[in-house]
Amino acid sequence: MKFSIVAIATALVSVRVAAAPVDNANWPAELLKRQAPGTPLYYCHDNCGQAVAGSRKTGYCSSIAFIHNYANCIQCSGPDNYNIWGYYNTTLIPAGGACGFPTTPDSGTQPDVGPAIPDGGVWP
Ligand SMILES: *[C@@H]1O[C@H](CO)[C@@H](O)[C@H](O)[C@H]1NC(C)=O
Repeated sequence: MKFSIVAIATALVSVRVAAAPVDNANWPAELLKRQAPGTPLYYCHDNCGQAVAGSRKTGYCSSIAFIHNYANCIQCSGPDNYNIWGYYNTTLIPAGGACGFPTTPDSGTQPDVGPAIPDGGVWP
């Protein structure tokens, strides 16, 4: 990841819960079902999806789980990598932007990410 977890974790920002544009809280699960578990693509969906779930919680900007999952999503979801940001951008751009985090996925080939920290998303 290209930004410091410590810096963003300590950033003092006003927290607001972004209105979720998608009413189905488990919609990323529909995407996950199409991926083989344990693959880097699965983990990328897992991190982005858990970031979506975590962003619905009060104070999520300072949540270790949200910061971890969001940073991994930014790392893995860009067009040079797994190219899945488009599934999550409408939720994660306002959610991450409200925390002062980057809202554009990393460009260039990035290392694969590992599993997300579970944060309220319910996967199959
Ligand atoms: C999200 O990504 C999709 C697909 O790339 C794109 O069409 C859409 O404009 C993006 N939305 C935002 C808010 O960036």
